[in-house]
Amino acid sequence: MIVYDKEKIIPGIIIFLLLATLPFWYTFVGGQPSVVPEPQISGPATQCVEPKTYMRNSHTDLLNTWRNEVVRKGNRVYIASDGKEYRISLSNTCMDCHSNKTEFCDACHNYLQIVPDCWNCHIQPEESK
Ligand code: HEC
Ligand code: HEC
Ligand code: HEC
Repeated sequence: MIVYDKEKIIPGIIIFLLLATLPFWYTFVGGQPSVVPEPQISGPATQCVEPKTYMRNSHTDLLNTWRNEVVRKGNRVYIASDGKEYRISLSNTCMDCHSNKTEFCDACHNYLQIVPDCWNCHIQPEESK
């Protein structure tokens, strides 16, 4: 009869699993997987409507707010947290600064496999290639 040496086998299995899943842990614990997109900002602007971190994490909320302001309240002016005024428009305001949709919006969305349906109705900026 074979007697397994639990004290060697169990750590062995754990080490094997750690090694086998290393790329996974590296990606999540190490932070930046090597393929994370670097969205390209085109144009001269240096500042977004709201601070960058807020934009990065919450642009969906902002876009929803914008839509609701226009569709429900008929308001087309957004006053940003720094007091600056913007005309509420996805196609004109956002995409005026972020005219390179492919290298900006899509860079993140493709990576995350998100395909917003906005462009079925909203005009997409023309991109010079
Ligand atoms: C079925 C068509 C349709 C789709 C899909 C759609 N919208 Fe709209 N959206 C409209 C219409 C119509 C208005 C009102 C236009 C106006 O009064 O200027 C509007 C208004 C808006 C506005 C405010 C006005 C403007 O021109 O920006 C925002 C912001 C907006 N939508 C964001 C979005 C986002 C973000 C998505 C995708 C998640 C989206 N919409 C998808 C039809 C659509
Ligand atoms: C006046 C020009 C301008 C307008 C208008 C503008 N942006 Fe920006 N946006 C920028 C700039 C410049 C940055 C980079 C900010 C920085 O690096 O601090 C940025 C950053 C962002 C980011 C974060 C990118 C990253 O790398 O984390 C997102 C997302 C974004 N914008 C989406 C939008 C959306 C959606 C709208 C419309 C609601 C919009 N922007 C309107 C200029 C603009
Ligand atoms: C820094 C990466 C990044 C950039 C740049 C970026 N997005 Fe996003 N976007 C995300 C993430 C992450 C989500 C999903 C999480 C969320 O809803 O906030 C998302 C979700 C969205 C959604 C909601 C999609 C849905 O179907 O619910 C819309 C609309 C959107 N983004 C519009 C834009 C537009 C327009 C731009 C370019 C002006 C842009 N995003 C640029 C990362 C980005």
